[in-house]
Amino acid sequence: ARLGILLSGRGSNFLAIADSIAAGRLDAEIAAVISNKADAPGVAAAQERGLAAFVIEAKGRKRAEHDAEMIAKLREQGVDLVCLAGYMRLLSPEFVQAFPERILNIHPSLLPAFPGLDAQRQALDYGVQFAGCTVHFVDEQLDHGVIVLQKPVPVFEEDDEHALSLRILAQEHLAYTEGIARVLSGEYHVAGRRYVKKRPA
Ligand code: GRF
Repeated sequence: ARLGILLSGRGSNFLAIADSIAAGRLDAEIAAVISNKADAPGVAAAQERGLAAFVIEAKGRKRAEHDAEMIAKLREQGVDLVCLAGYMRLLSPEFVQAFPERILNIHPSLLPAFPGLDAQRQALDYGVQFAGCTVHFVDEQLDHGVIVLQKPVPVFEEDDEHALSLRILAQEHLAYTEGIARVLSGEYHVAGRRYVKKRPA
């Protein structure tokens, strides 16, 4: 499969996916990395690895117009699965509809708890004793689509946002590869809100 990665910043999830591919843990290739920010470390890392990396600036542009440019680039690169990896901008309905059940996101909480920004801070403020991460399909609502895979982590009394974020991030790096592999396996399908193994005919 040909993956398209969308990011806005650090890019550690992108690098974890790239490492999984390089190590033979994931049968895919990265056909495009697109950043909406020119100074995203993730886009520099993609260039260093010799990947097709593109900056498509979003600032000051209409969402639909920016997204149309991304759709064109992803199609041009032959992308068949789009992976959001710290892409900090809402996608337009047009973008979501252009890749039905073919856009994944990773979010640093056990959804549906704590959607949106600062999920780890939200978890600490709420006082939950377990946090985690979620790989899910992207639909037209923020952090809402069908869940592909989740990984929990404990929250300890002495945790601050940094400590909890690091513990979750280590699981994100495992979860994204597993989630992508699950989707690419063809062995699962969406049944209502659940992503479950297909039953043999
Ligand atoms: C991760 O915590 C991810 O779950 C969230 O944004 C962060 C991106 O980190 N969506 P990175 O750019 O992949 O290092």
